[in-house]
Amino acid sequence: MDQEKEIKDRMFKLLNEEMRKIFTERVIDYGTNPRNCGVMDRPDGYAKFTGPCGDTVEIFLKIKNGKIENISYTTDGCMTSHAAVSAATVMARGRLLKECLTINQESILGHLGGLPEDSKHCALLAATTFHKALRQYLVK
Ligand code: FES
Repeated sequence: MDQEKEIKDRMFKLLNEEMRKIFTERVIDYGTNPRNCGVMDRPDGYAKFTGPCGDTVEIFLKIKNGKIENISYTTDGCMTSHAAVSAATVMARGRLLKECLTINQESILGHLGGLPEDSKHCALLAATTFHKALRQYLVK
């Protein structure tokens, strides 16, 4: 039993070391401990969008006095899509709607300290879904 635990610990350590070669601390943090993940009842703004990679993101907004009072998301995507959408929700929470216009692929990548080239589209999917949810609220 102790040997089994030792093997698992060693494998986990190796995996962690490999992840740190590819992703920033913040990506690993948001990706493995996502913020604001979950469905929201009766949101003021909502969007569901599937990117070209096939992953889907949903964003839920509660808006009060022109500010994002609450925001949550779901995704069936990978760790980097969780990291990107989670980052977008952290960046948006409590901000005025007009301030949210600055939340885009670039600013999400900046917040995360970057993503590998082949994962940058995860930040675009997060930003696109977020702006679709904002638009849905504004059009209502
Ligand atoms: Fe599709 Fe990340 S791989 S959003």
